[in-house]
Amino acid sequence: MATKRKIHNFTKVLGKCSKSEAMQAVRGLCLMGVARHSLRWWNCYSSGFQAISVSFTSLTSSRSYCMSKHGGKNMWPDKEVNMVKEVGRVCGKQQTVKSIPAVTVADVTLNHNKGMLEVSWGEGKPDIFPYVWLRDNCRCPSCFHAPSNSRTHLIDNLDLNTQPTSVQVLSEGKEVEVVWNDGHRGTYLAAWLHLRAFNTIQRHAKAKRLRLSRSYWGAKALEDLPQASFGDLLIDDTALMVWLQQLEVYGFVIVNGAPTKPGQVRKLAERIGFIKKTHYGEDFTVKAKPDPSNVAYLSGLLQLHTDLPYYEYKPGVQFIHCIVQYEGNGGESLVSDAVHVAQELKKLYPEKYHILTQTPVDWFDIGTDEVGEFYKIMHKPVICTDDTGEICRINMSQPQRDSFFSVPPEIVASWYDAMVTYHRLLSHPHYCLQFKMIPGTILTFDNLRIVHGRTGYMSGGGERHVEGCYIDWDEVRSRRRVLEVKLEITKDRLH
Ligand code: OGA
Ligand code: ZN
Ligand code: ZN
Repeated sequence: MATKRKIHNFTKVLGKCSKSEAMQAVRGLCLMGVARHSLRWWNCYSSGFQAISVSFTSLTSSRSYCMSKHGGKNMWPDKEVNMVKEVGRVCGKQQTVKSIPAVTVADVTLNHNKGMLEVSWGEGKPDIFPYVWLRDNCRCPSCFHAPSNSRTHLIDNLDLNTQPTSVQVLSEGKEVEVVWNDGHRGTYLAAWLHLRAFNTIQRHAKAKRLRLSRSYWGAKALEDLPQASFGDLLIDDTALMVWLQQLEVYGFVIVNGAPTKPGQVRKLAERIGFIKKTHYGEDFTVKAKPDPSNVAYLSGLLQLHTDLPYYEYKPGVQFIHCIVQYEGNGGESLVSDAVHVAQELKKLYPEKYHILTQTPVDWFDIGTDEVGEFYKIMHKPVICTDDTGEICRINMSQPQRDSFFSVPPEIVASWYDAMVTYHRLLSHPHYCLQFKMIPGTILTFDNLRIVHGRTGYMSGGGERHVEGCYIDWDEVRSRRRVLEVKLEITKDRLH
């Protein structure tokens, strides 16, 4: 069976595209999993507006392909025809793509010794499902409330030694019916079961949808960094989805072309979900002002930092919109991938990395803003790792690091030494991007991963006006998954 599909947004991109748009398109296609035969995007460029050249790195080789809208030279080796088709889809040509055959069950066997149902599929390796899990996940109306997608039976009533007395394949392999030893009966769809198989491939696929894996970058990548069009994000769900995927993968996307007036960060946040309010308000204005509640509202250098390290639930994603840029020297943005640099620190100075991951630091913010009085204090290392050792959060703010330092005095000097080394690496031109936002630019970035800052703008070059807001990763990831299902990037709904 074959289905026809068209991916519209890339038609537009390749119709007449700049180098950065072409790169954007290819990056998008890899993120969306369209380029199934490639493992990762490696490099691409456009020559004029009629051709795009893409290099992919696969497990065994790295190759370049060139594709022209007007035919051009056929550079495609026969055995790579599938990849050509995939790239063709991205170029917006109608392509016939094979749909994945429906999942069917060929046979089922009860294994009481193991307490498992063994399922042989129409295609692929068999899987085993624990009885107790099957019973707990019975889909019948007395165990499961479909409208709310919720389990309704009580855990205390679950018989841990439950066993089926019979099992059969129904509807030409599309369903499996189980009858339990207490007479209860439940039916499971083959595709539903297949997605939930306990094998490592399915578990890995689920984990990939939960979080996208990060790609790290340094200053050299500035030219290639993902960008998005504000106008597209407001009206085009595909552009929106690609932006959210890129935000998760690269941690930093520049959004261009926003109107140069307040209220735009809110519009962007509302395309995803809702703003995360803090004691600085929902959206906040960064302008030089006398006696401000935060040093960001002065005009001096803002060293590399993450916002709000003194929050237990630190906002995950941050937007900074340049409405008016300072016309003299200064007011330039600084951005560095602090997780990447932490990994470099670990390679160069493992001991310093260890100190920064193990030493709790006091963070604080005490004062009054429009929203009222606040008294926030928090105790967390600069580099936070989870129980697998993976870096899950960076905290950094020279102004809002407390003068309380609740650690034994012997470790203080070595902590400072590690901190200075880390900060110097972060600000090294090899890792740190420095550029001046033009009005209408919105920096969008991961506030758990990226450190940002701003050079000072002291010497009378006029006004500078920036507006910001935050949104939580929960909302961003949720919206990304909703869009992936809606736009059929994910073929199978997980739930
Ligand atoms: C901030 C901030 C950046 C800027 O307000 O936290 O980082 O460009 N501002 O003013
Ligand atoms: Zn049931
Ligand atoms: Zn900031």
